[in-house]
Amino acid sequence: MKIAVLPGDGIGTEIVAEAVKVLNTLDLKFEMETALVGGAAYDAYGHPLPEATLKLAMASDAVLFGAVGDWKYDTLDRPLRPEQAILGLRKNMGLFANFRPAICYEQLVGASSLKPELISGLDILIIRELTGDIYFGQPRGRRIATDGHFPGAEEAFDTMRYSKPEIERIAHVAFQAARKRKAAGSEGRVTSVDKANVLETFQFWKDVVTEVGKAYPDIALDHMYVDNAAMQLVKEPKRFDVVVTGNMFGDILSDEASMLTGSIGMLPSASLNTKSQGLYEPSHGSAPDIAGKGVANPLATILSAAMMLRFSLNQGEAAERIEAAVQKVLAQGLRTGDIWSEGTTKVGTLEMGDAVVKALD
Ligand code: IPM
Ligand code: MG
Repeated sequence: MKIAVLPGDGIGTEIVAEAVKVLNTLDLKFEMETALVGGAAYDAYGHPLPEATLKLAMASDAVLFGAVGDWKYDTLDRPLRPEQAILGLRKNMGLFANFRPAICYEQLVGASSLKPELISGLDILIIRELTGDIYFGQPRGRRIATDGHFPGAEEAFDTMRYSKPEIERIAHVAFQAARKRKAAGSEGRVTSVDKANVLETFQFWKDVVTEVGKAYPDIALDHMYVDNAAMQLVKEPKRFDVVVTGNMFGDILSDEASMLTGSIGMLPSASLNTKSQGLYEPSHGSAPDIAGKGVANPLATILSAAMMLRFSLNQGEAAERIEAAVQKVLAQGLRTGDIWSEGTTKVGTLEMGDAVVKALD
C-alpha cells in the first residue's frame, strides 16, 4: 500500500502530520513518501506541481493531500499558482469523481448556524464531477487590447463543456452510491443539480443523467436548478440523499453543505479515478490566517485518511476504527476552536490528533 503524502501549504503540514500519526498507529504496513506541492513546491522548485511530485502521486495507490494556496501567490501567472497543483493532479490522474459527504455529528449540532432540528441526523453525499466543466473547458483566455497587455484586456472568457461519456460515468457513480446507501437505510434518491433553464451544457447534463437513471429503477431521481438547490440546502437539507452535479456548481454547493455540519473543519473528501486510485483531502483550504499556530482542526484530514483506507486501500475495518475514534473524542467533549462551544474543552491540532490515536484502542 503506497501512499503519497502531499501536505502543501498553510495548515496543510500540521493537519496531515496528525493524519499520518493516526495511520501509523494502525497495525497496517504502509509505504509513505512525502513531497512538496503548491506554494511550497513553487518556492523550492519554481513550479506548484513538480514532475517528481506528479510522478510519485501517479505511482501510488493513494494520495493524502493537505491544502494549497496563500494570498502571497495571487500575483503569479495562473499556471504557477498553487491551485494549479490540485487541478493538475485531478486532471493527470483522471480523478473525475469527487465525494463530499456532509454528515452532522450529533455532538456538533449546536456548532452549526442552523437550527438543530434542521440538521440533526443530517447525512447527505455531494458527488461533484471533477475533471470537466468550465474548470477545464477550451478555449479560455483574455482578448488582448490594442496595447498588448492583460491589464488593458477588453474581455475574458472560459468555456463550459461536458461530453456525454463524462456525464454518464459520474451519473453511474451517483446512482451506485445511492444504491449502496439505500442498502444501509437511506432513502435511495439522486438529485441532479443543473441550470438547464439557461445553459445548453446543463440541459444536456439533465438529459444524459435521466437516460442513465433508467438503469436504476430502484433509485428515485429528481432534478433541481442550482439556485434552488442552494436555497433548499439551508431550508430543508434533510430532503437530500445523494446530490450529483458538475464541477463548478459542486464546488459552491459543497462549501455551502459543509456549514450544515457545524464546521468545514470536519469534512473529508475523496476524489477517485476509474482504477480506484484516489486523492484524499479535507474539503477546507489552507487557512493561511491560522497556519503555524497549532489551532487547526485535523479531523477532516483524519477522516479523509479513513476514506482512503476504505476506497483505495481496501481496509474498510480500519476506516471504521478511525471514524469511531473521532466520534469518541467528540463525545469526550474535545473541540478545536472552530467547533468549540460553551461547556466543551478547547484543544489544539496536536492534542486532537493524540486524542484520536488514544481513542483507537
Ligand atoms: C476545492 C477548491 C479548489 C476547487 C481550488 C483550490 C482549485 O476550492 O477543492 O473545492 O475549486 O476545486
Ligand atoms: Mg472549493
